[in-house]
Amino acid sequence: EMRQHPTFPRPSASAIDKARRLLERALGPSKVITSADGCAAYAGDESDQPPVSPDAVVLASSAADIEKAVRAASEAEVPVVPRAAGSGKSGGAVPVGGGIVIATIGMNSIKEISREEQIAVVEPGVILADLHAAVEAEGLFYPPDPNSLKMCALGGNIAENAAGPRAFKYGVTREYVLGLDAILIDGTRLRTGRRTVKGVTGYDVTALLVGSEGTLAITTEATLRLIAKPPSVMTLLCLFPDVRASGRAVSALVAAGVVPRCLELLDRPTLDAVRARGVGVDERAGAMLIIEVDGEPADCEVQAERVGEVCMDAGALDVLVAQDEAQRERLWEARRQLSPTTRAMARYKISEDVVVPRDKIPALLDEVAEISAATGVRMLTYGHAGDGNLHVNLLWNDPDLVPQVETALSRLFRAVIGMRGTLSGEHGIGTSKADFLALEQSPELIAIERKIKALFDPKGLLNPHKIFPRRTLEAAER
Ligand code: MLT
Ligand code: ZN
Repeated sequence: EMRQHPTFPRPSASAIDKARRLLERALGPSKVITSADGCAAYAGDESDQPPVSPDAVVLASSAADIEKAVRAASEAEVPVVPRAAGSGKSGGAVPVGGGIVIATIGMNSIKEISREEQIAVVEPGVILADLHAAVEAEGLFYPPDPNSLKMCALGGNIAENAAGPRAFKYGVTREYVLGLDAILIDGTRLRTGRRTVKGVTGYDVTALLVGSEGTLAITTEATLRLIAKPPSVMTLLCLFPDVRASGRAVSALVAAGVVPRCLELLDRPTLDAVRARGVGVDERAGAMLIIEVDGEPADCEVQAERVGEVCMDAGALDVLVAQDEAQRERLWEARRQLSPTTRAMARYKISEDVVVPRDKIPALLDEVAEISAATGVRMLTYGHAGDGNLHVNLLWNDPDLVPQVETALSRLFRAVIGMRGTLSGEHGIGTSKADFLALEQSPELIAIERKIKALFDPKGLLNPHKIFPRRTLEAAER
């Protein structure tokens, strides 16, 4: 079986019994699921990691519920796995060592939106698209927009430091989190950060918690920075004969100082996948950039013109402009559907999330082509080219191809690190890339990270086995 987890230790039967008893006593039976069927619904996420059922699920409706649940878990010494929408891409919400899933999806209130302060205060179960709609109704804007925005929730976005197409201009989730209310595994409540946009008091624990993948604390409330909603957007579709030309255009746009809000790339195999779904794309096109600019209407025109010139200079076949909101939405919907579309193309799929310096995009795409040819694994690439963050997808049907897939991945990661890139731009490490962490980070750095983890969670009960490599592999890398 592909990328099967090593069997992680699970709690003993008596520890599970004790945890269930303590949970039911503290929270009442209606908030605690212990049936096998009920638990199975919380076993997997949207990653390629095999699902593992928890031993109990807590349906939290308040910070007090979470506090009670972690106190019970700590007393029984069973693991806790926080989960918001479960749409993560790296296995962060998969309870690989069993234990208790704390589901925060029911905590979905937007507690405050302030136009004067340009902030929002949200609970972890708020669906991202609902937050977008609510703040935009006030003329405000929350930029992070992972493509799963209609299903993902803020708690998970914060845990994974999610991004999305608009990160190119506006940055990632961390840049919008001013403060957090969070609960540690022993039930301690922490309030980090502040409501003000400016402030440097003490260590930046907020920034540490964002992207910590649920391994340090559980978010119960977040204070988010908003900006004014850009008055106008324009969406361009730039078609290129091949992916090299599109890569050149990305570098040229960056060098020209044009900052569209989105700069997305689709390579030839991805375009073919889109065509196969009945979306008409000029047959001459071997690659495509989706470029979106925003600002005042006149400013959009100027930026769009500049984008068009730079793309044509880089060898574009054609530059098309979305004519209305419906056309624009159809285009983005096709883009957002790439993950499920490619998922349906083969029996097995792994979606990677590597980042390279932007001038290395052509080199990375060449490397992907070489790896695919050498290993016989079908690969297609799309993603947030403006940030150098490309989703390299590996697709295969024959289970016997697993060794070649492992070779392809290892070659890809080594090439990316060789280009001074990074393993994950937005999906996180989770369990899916934990064994590769030591490729990118030194033993000294990983040791400091382990100490931070131990400080927050001395018994290693909160979302165990995530981020950190199994020690044997870590040692082997040295
Ligand atoms: C995306 O950009 O579509 C998402 O990050 C998911 C993915 O394709 O892996
Ligand atoms: Zn993405």
